[in-house]
Amino acid sequence: MAGVPAFYVTTPIYYVNDKPHIGHAYTTVIADALARWHRLIGDDVFFLTGTDEHGLKVQRVAEERGITPQEQADTTSERFREAWAGLDITNDDFIRTTEPRHHKAVQRLLQAVYDNGHIELATYEGLYCVGCEAYYTDDELEDGNCPIHQRPAELFKEDNYFFKLSRFEQPLLDWFEAHPDAIQPESKRNEALGLIRQGLRDVSITRTSLDWGVPVPWDPDHVFYVWYDALINYATAIGYGEDPERFARWWPAVNHLIGKDIIRFHCVYWPAMLLAAGIDPPRHVWVHGYLLVKGAKMSKTAFNQIAPGDLAEEFGVDGVRYHLLRDNAFGPDGDFSYEGMVARYNADLANNLGNLLSRVSTVVGSKCGGVGPAPRPDSPLAPVAAECYEAAAAAWQRVQPAEALEATWRLIREANAHLEANEPWKAEPGPAVDAVLGDALEVLRIVAILAHPAVPRACTEVWRRIGLHGAPADQRLPGAARWGGYPGGFRVEKGAPLFPRIKEP
Ligand code: MSP
Repeated sequence: MAGVPAFYVTTPIYYVNDKPHIGHAYTTVIADALARWHRLIGDDVFFLTGTDEHGLKVQRVAEERGITPQEQADTTSERFREAWAGLDITNDDFIRTTEPRHHKAVQRLLQAVYDNGHIELATYEGLYCVGCEAYYTDDELEDGNCPIHQRPAELFKEDNYFFKLSRFEQPLLDWFEAHPDAIQPESKRNEALGLIRQGLRDVSITRTSLDWGVPVPWDPDHVFYVWYDALINYATAIGYGEDPERFARWWPAVNHLIGKDIIRFHCVYWPAMLLAAGIDPPRHVWVHGYLLVKGAKMSKTAFNQIAPGDLAEEFGVDGVRYHLLRDNAFGPDGDFSYEGMVARYNADLANNLGNLLSRVSTVVGSKCGGVGPAPRPDSPLAPVAAECYEAAAAAWQRVQPAEALEATWRLIREANAHLEANEPWKAEPGPAVDAVLGDALEVLRIVAILAHPAVPRACTEVWRRIGLHGAPADQRLPGAARWGGYPGGFRVEKGAPLFPRIKEP
């Protein structure tokens, strides 16, 4: 696809010791909405997600359950796949780190780092948190406890291969200086730069204490430390070492979406490792905050996890997606609350969008014989639609889905206000009524495209009910958002409410 811009978007790959919860769904839905938006603007999109299956954490959970790590990985990986299918996630690939293609890529990439002289053998003794799969220093621990898991770190001693991370302090600072937008938002960029400026110590990247991992090619008694294997998934999936042309198509112009818990790995270790292998660091890392439940991060140990499937039963798939995209700005922490979710669903989906469609289809039925009239070229809603499109497009570009949807819903609200001001349901059939309804139908057409990345099912249904052929997903922006696209003369169907109201708790 020469000449077509490429958009490569990734989620973190999720650990298979834990089942999918809405914290995971948060990142995945944002990545999906971005992928869908970029398909609409005509980009060539590659959207990757998957599961992180090695490491002590997975091995221990498997032991506790009396199964093999492979069985644990197979079952849980499948649950992630199902969860994403259940949320209409349109990933192009699903990578598992236990796949042979990944083992090959890891061995190749780290062999290149070794051959370049950036990996050396040494003995390591330190305090390790299995929950984080990371070593800690005394001052990073809180009373001997891991600051994230609040559990004691364990003393480990091993002969390890070390990555000479300390050599990359200056190259990393230089690279981030030359690419000031590589980590966003700004506050997270500063956090990453802070970590680098504190000084980088060499890091241990292999283990001999377990065998559940990718074997080190030059010393098979060792396996790679899970993080060093996991990060490479982003390279494996686009053909690193197998298909250089394909790799160059997508790399380094990647968009990694990550939670703030894994900044150090994505913004320090990963770019350093790539530099050491002679590869450019990732061009964009977009870091978001936590989705909190009553102020606390969701975790297995806190028993506060919410399964995306349970919510979808109540709010519908689109209801869950909309909430995750709309209720929190991308960047800071945000709160998940059932009450907030019901309020947002009723206000935006049941009332604003749902009402616009049901009013328009009802009045077209009663005043226009069920056939949709065409919009006016000089409609007062035309400039509003153009403005909202511009605002939404700019916000998607900045990875701010909440703002993009706010702009899209402004157009819906304006169309509802326009109907209320003109009250076509009270007027006699004729050109004045046709004009108002034609304008509202045109807004529905444009909204069905602009809101499609967030609520694809509803938008596809709006498209069908207003009589259009094809689907919003097949439209191309910006052309399809230009005022005047609704041709008129199509049958408009009245149907059941798009989003039935949910009772306030
Ligand atoms: N396996 C590693 C990532 C390796 S990527 C090369 C990992 N996995 S994880 O399953 O623990 O979580 C990964 C991501 O899930 C987080 O970075 C974040 O994007 C998302 N979230 C998990 N819990 C979350 C919240 N409570 N809120 C928001 N995002 C959350 O770390």
